[in-house]
Parts: sequence; C-alpha cells; structure tokens
Amino acid sequence: MNEEFKVTPWDVTGKVDYAKLIEEFGTEPIDEGILNRWKRITGSIPMALQRKIFFSHRDLNWILDRYEQGEKFVLYTGRGPSGHTHIGHLMPWMFTKYLQDTFDAPLYFQMTDDEKFLYKDSLSLKEAMAFSYENALDVIALGFDPKKTYIFSDLEYNKTLYRIAVQVAKRITFSTAKAVFGFDSSTNIGLIFFTSMQSAPAFLPSVQAGKNIPVLIPHAIDQDPHFRVTRDVAPKLGYYKPAAIHCTFLPSLAGSDKMSASRPETTIYTTDDVKVARKKILGAFTGGRVSVEEQKKLGGVPGVCAVFQYYYYLFEEDGAKLKERERKCMSGEIMCGECKQDLADRVASFLERHQEKREKARDRIKDFVVSDYSAAYDRLKRPQDRKEVAKLKRTMKEYYSVKEGDSIRINRTRDLE
Ligand code: TYM
Repeated sequence: MNEEFKVTPWDVTGKVDYAKLIEEFGTEPIDEGILNRWKRITGSIPMALQRKIFFSHRDLNWILDRYEQGEKFVLYTGRGPSGHTHIGHLMPWMFTKYLQDTFDAPLYFQMTDDEKFLYKDSLSLKEAMAFSYENALDVIALGFDPKKTYIFSDLEYNKTLYRIAVQVAKRITFSTAKAVFGFDSSTNIGLIFFTSMQSAPAFLPSVQAGKNIPVLIPHAIDQDPHFRVTRDVAPKLGYYKPAAIHCTFLPSLAGSDKMSASRPETTIYTTDDVKVARKKILGAFTGGRVSVEEQKKLGGVPGVCAVFQYYYYLFEEDGAKLKERERKCMSGEIMCGECKQDLADRVASFLERHQEKREKARDRIKDFVVSDYSAAYDRLKRPQDRKEVAKLKRTMKEYYSVKEGDSIRINRTRDLE
C-alpha cells in the first residue's frame, strides 16, 4: 500500500509515487515512443531520460513536431530564491542546459523573489532579491550561453511581466486557485495572484516576438499546478499552451523525501564548504545492515539508500559502473563507509569546480540579466532625471554589480526571429 504523500509547489512530503502523480496531475509518461523519437532527432538519449529521472511531460510530441517542421522553441524555467541553491535544484537546470545546447534554444529564467517574499514569513524583500542574485550565479556557473539566456527577477522585471500577468489573472477565478493550490481564507492575497506571474514568462517570448513562439518548460513535477493554470489560460489569450518536461526529486540525504532547504543537515548547498558537505554525506542514510558481518552475509539494500540515489541521479554517469556498484552492494562486497567516501570525493570535486565558476560568474552577471530598470536607465538621460539615475545606479550596483558605463541589456526580441 502506498504511504501518504503530498506534492504542491510549496510542499513535498512523504514517499512520492510518481506513477500515481502522473494520473492525479493528468500528465503523460515519457515512454519508449518518445525516447526513440528523441534519439532519432538528437542522435542520443541523455542519462536523465534513460534513467527516467525526467519521467513525465505535457505536449512534448507537439513541441517536437514543431521543431521538426523548423519552428524553434524557447526554454523557460526558474527558481524561487528563498535561500542558497541546493544540488537538487541543479538537476532541472543541468537538463535545461543540455536542451539549450541540443536544440539551440534561448532560455528565459525567472527568479520569483516576489513569491518567496509572499510565502516565507521570515524573508525580507531585500533578502529575496539578494538570493535572486546569488542563485543566478549558480545558473550562470552551469555554462548557459550568455547570448541566448535571459535571467530576470520578478521584482526587477515587474513592469514587463505585470502586463502579461494581469491578463492571465483576469482569467483565473479564486475558486480555480483554491482548487489547484489548496488556498483558503487565511492565504495572503499576494500568493493568490502570484501564479499569474509564473505564467507570464511562458507568453513573454510570443509577446516580444509579436508572433506565437512554442515554449518548453523543464522543471520538477512540484511546479506542474502552476502550468496547468497557464495552459488553461493560454488559448483564451491566443497563445500556444506551453509544453513541459518533468523530473522527479533528488531525495534528501535522509532517504525518501525531497532534498529541501527546510532540513539543511540533509541538504547539500552549492555554497557548502567542502568539509561540511563531506560530513553531511558521511552522515547519510544508507541501506546498510546493523553490522559489517551481517552486511557481508546479506548485502545492502540500494533501493532504500540515499547514497545510491546520489550516484543514480547525478554522480555516476556510466550505466555499467552504476550496475556494478549496485551488484557489489547487494552481494556484500562493498561496505557503506567506502561507498560514502567515494561519493564524498565526487561531490567535493564537483563543488570545488562549481564554486570556482560561481565566483567567476559575479563578473558576468550583467551579460545574463534583463531588467526593466535597464530600459529606464537607458532612457533617463535628461538632466532633470539625474536624481533618479543616481538611484537606479545604486540599485543596479547593489544587485547586479553593475559598474558605471556598463551597458545593460534590454529585451532582445531580435534573437528570437
Ligand atoms: P524552486 O526554487 O522551488 O525550485 C527550482 C527548480 O528546482 C526544482 N526542484 C527540484 N528538482 C529536483 N530535486 C529536488 N529536490 C528539487 N527541489 C526543487 C523545482 O521543481 C524547480 O524546477 N516557483 C518556482 C520558480 C519558478 C519556476 C518557473 C520553476 C518560476 N518559474 C518555471 C520551474 C519553471 C520555485 O519556487 O522553484
């Protein structure tokens, strides 16, 4: 019998039954037909699809049809910046990077600092905006193409997004919002409106290009409720419904649950000191037995082991090696201590490389960020606006390390044509 589980954009608990979720949410499984098609179009099947880490979708065949007919699509994904990035967040972003490279697709990346401010009592606006910046460094560190990647924070790009969001909001009733998100009378009204802000970037490429542009949204399945609403509204506004591809959750180091910021001791942040990350891994839940003797005799249980999951999801790309590790575990040839040490080494070297790229990203952030202030900043050249210019410069400096004389990018719709 299935344990109880819950998946909403703000809360994931229990052992998630992904097959059941496909039914409940009404998405499609990624089946052999899609995998074969993927291989035919792109030449290979990436690890995340082979292993069914990306397991579900909406309208993927439709977007591939369009692609094969020569119509390019735009990618859209995002982050709710309530703290530092953890390695679970990187999973959909790494896949998005693969999609950008494979399909030569522009990426719109939304930082929903407004959402996190509205949701989290203890988070100030300033903190949420600062985490937008910090999280953007992680995105850039993954190697996205600056010529095709547009990162924006809702609080900084609100003028552009709001004009789309109000059109969406006008077509969503409170009763739909309650049914989809489980809101009640105690929910603050900002959060009720918020879903229309998350819908907006799905239509932004079309608004900017002045014609319908197909959009593909890679994300973990928890965000699907937002896009169910987006897809309902799309035809009413004359846009294509965005397609989506969904991944499962990287579990926490404690085992079955989703890796989550609410339990930092079982979560690896991209900013963790390598020593701290090692310690967390050495304390992880495994499928080991009570004693070495027993483990040698009976073998371990990789199916329930958090450490094995980390190899599976991120840290062992080679399928044959993964199988061999599983075999050795089950036959009692390898002990949990050794397996953890190996993983700790891999995570440590990943973090070291990532942190180096992350630091370098500080100098490159302006190549990626789009903001309404950039447009305003460019316009405000008249002497009477000097005070405002000074204020904008301070804002830009504070959040995006912009130096005087830097030209800041505005919407570049030309790239989409
Ligand atoms: P957020 O910040 O909760 O999560 C960012 C992205 O990471 C996924 N995710 C995970 N993936 C694998 N394993 C995990 N343990 C894990 N935890 C989170 C999320 O599904 C998401 O894809 N409201 C959004 C931000 C957003 C967005 C978007 C996300 C705005 N527009 C478009 C996806 C697509 C949020 O708070 O994500």
